[in-house]
Parts: sequence; structure tokens; C-alpha cells
Amino acid sequence: MSDAPVVDVRNGDCRELIAAMPSDSVDAIVTDPPYELGFMGKGWDASGVAYDVTLWSECLRVLKPGGHLLAFGGTRTFHRMACAIEDAGFEIRDSIYWLYSSGFPKSHNVSKGIDKAAGALAHESKGFTVAGRTDKNLPNPKVKGYVPPEPATDAAKQWRGWGTALKPAHEPIVLARKPLNGTVADNVKRYGVGALNIDGTRVLTDDRFGGGPRGKSGFAAGYDSDGWTAGSDKGRWPANVITDGTTEAEWVRYFFCPKASNGERNAGLDALPATFAPTMNNGIGGKEHDPETATAKQNTHPTVKPLALMRYLVRLVTPPGGTVLEPFAGSGTTLAAAILEGFNAIGCELTEDYLPIIAGRVQWAQQQRANKTESLFPE
Ligand SMILES: C[S@@+](CC[C@H](N)C(=O)[O-])C[C@H]1O[C@@H](n2cnc3c(N)ncnc32)[C@H](O)[C@@H]1O
Repeated sequence: MSDAPVVDVRNGDCRELIAAMPSDSVDAIVTDPPYELGFMGKGWDASGVAYDVTLWSECLRVLKPGGHLLAFGGTRTFHRMACAIEDAGFEIRDSIYWLYSSGFPKSHNVSKGIDKAAGALAHESKGFTVAGRTDKNLPNPKVKGYVPPEPATDAAKQWRGWGTALKPAHEPIVLARKPLNGTVADNVKRYGVGALNIDGTRVLTDDRFGGGPRGKSGFAAGYDSDGWTAGSDKGRWPANVITDGTTEAEWVRYFFCPKASNGERNAGLDALPATFAPTMNNGIGGKEHDPETATAKQNTHPTVKPLALMRYLVRLVTPPGGTVLEPFAGSGTTLAAAILEGFNAIGCELTEDYLPIIAGRVQWAQQQRANKTESLFPE
């Protein structure tokens, strides 16, 4: 591990920054673009950049022939992004679904709405929390919910139990490829890209409860390539589903990765001031911001992806020693993941406020790699 990955972070609009890059110069693009939902009132999440064919055309140009693109999207919006990616000239190869169980439904209670409009609402909903399983080896998040008031009017009684939204439980990821130059064999020999790293992302079927992060995350790194069946003892073939591992069966079949913990988000940021950033339950969505219960954090980015998930994804599409481009760096998770996996990385980020966070996390990842921190690089 003496080869230190090189990271280049650029501040600005990724469309302009990528336009200045040479053609056929990166091996993979792994990106978490805005979902275009105006999340937490952020202007950057409602500019339409994810649907901009110019962006994806530039991504296509800088990728080597046969290079892969992985792009996250929102469940309500990713189809428009996928069309833009395809319109730019990419071949859509698959969609990966990251499943999780910790999302909250943002549903309108129809019955309650009727009573409220009629001035007949008895009281607001009451929240409750049921503690999760106590066995720390088994992930099982707390169950939270709301007990709605009893409907008062006849119309509210009729519409009791009706809502307007499902609980969010997955994030789609578009898997696309720049067209090959010749056959796969020709392309991989000439450009070093064009295929997926199946063996590097196999899912372990044993040692599920082994305690080490690799066993826990199902990370089957560096297996020999003779297990070409879905249930090989070399680990299962990587699937187009990734889970947060909240049911035992999922641990066996799929790579799993829970959402990023606070410790992980803030690692490397001790030098930055901790501030109270609003969360879904504290400061937005009609909820008052309560500094008493809000957690102060150095990493104030609202949409931090888990490192293990991004490590798995960059490993899937990047050849050894390759360069990963992340046009939407955010707090730098993709860049830190690329470093931990030994890849060079180029990141673009529009919002200047996030640059110190990126710098701290990138430096942290470089240190972890140099020190071969055991929890991140198990033997
Ligand atoms: C969904 S967030 C990425 C979060 C990241 N995956 C993480 O774990 O921290 C998208 C980021 O793209 C940035 N962004 C939005 N429009 C951009 C543009 N045109 N060029 C570069 N960055 C942009 C936003 O400032 C935001 O930080």
C-alpha cells in the first residue's frame, strides 16, 4: 500500500470543470447528484443539473471507452436523470437498488386533513418509539411512529387509514457504460475498462457474524476468479440489490450497508467547529429546530452516503490504480471511498462551504490507508 492515491478537488460547477478535462481520461464515474427535490430547502438540490444532457455528455467524453458510470437518483426523479444519461450516449446497463429500513413516510393523513379543515381536529398526532433489538450483532433500528387522533367528522371516519406516500426504503443507482470500442476483450485490453469487478465485490456466505467489518458488511475482497456461479463458495455473485442488512436473510444474499453513522460522517473533522445542522426531525418538515435535542456536528452536509457503500461501488467499476471522477462531491464520501480502495480521485463541488469538510475527510482517508487501520482494512 505504498502507492498513495492522488486526489484533486475542484470548486465550481461540474459542467464547466469537466469541460476543461481531457477526453478519455478517467476510468470510472461514481456520483451522487442532486435528486432535484429541493431537499432541506437547498437550492443546489433543485437546479435541474441532474437532468442536463450537457453534463452527461461531458462525463461521456472524459470517460475512457467502455468506462462505467454509477449515478444515484431519487425514487421520484431518477427516471429523468436516466433519460438524460442515455440521451448523452451512454448505454444503460442496469439499475442497482440500495434498500434500507430507516426512512420515514412523508404522507398526508387524509382523515386528519379533513377534520383540520372542518375545525374538528381533537389533537395532533402523538409520536412513539419502540426500542430495537438489544443484540448488538444484529442490526435492528428503533421503530418510530405516530398515533393519529381519532377522526371526528363522518368524512374523516370514511377516509381513515388513507395517505399519500409510501415509506422510502430504497435509492436507485443507474449503472451505465460508455460504448465499447470493439469487443469487451478488445476494449479491456486497450483501455483497461469495460467490465465489472465481479470477484472484488462478491458477497460472503460464511463468517456473517464473524465480528470483523468485512464479515459484517459481506465484503468479499480479492477472491480468485473460479467461482462463476451465483452460490459459489467464493461468495455470491454481486446482485443489483444492496441492503442495510436489517433482516437476517439479506445478510446472506446481498452486500449490505447501513446508513452512515455520526462517527463516520465526522471522522477527520476534529479541527472544524461543530454546528447544529437541521435534520428531518429537528428543524425541517414543519418541526421546530430544538438545539437541546439536535446534534452538533462538524459534517453539516445533509445527504452523506455511507463509506462502505461507496467503497463497494467504486470497487465494482474501477480497475486497479484507476481514477474515479465524482462530479458532485458533497462532503467527499466518494473521494474518501476511492482513496480507501487505492484509486485516484477527481472531485467537483459547487458549494464552497463543503470544501473544508471534503479536505478533512480526504486527509483522514489517506491517513487510514497509510496506517492500514484494521477496521477499514481487515486481513
Ligand atoms: C447529493 S450531494 C452529494 C453528497 C455526497 N455523496 C456525500 O456523501 O457527502 C450533491 C452535491 O452536489 C453539489 N452540486 C450541486 N450542483 C452542482 C454542480 N452544478 N456542480 C458541482 N457540484 C454541484 C451540491 O453542493 C451537493 O454538495
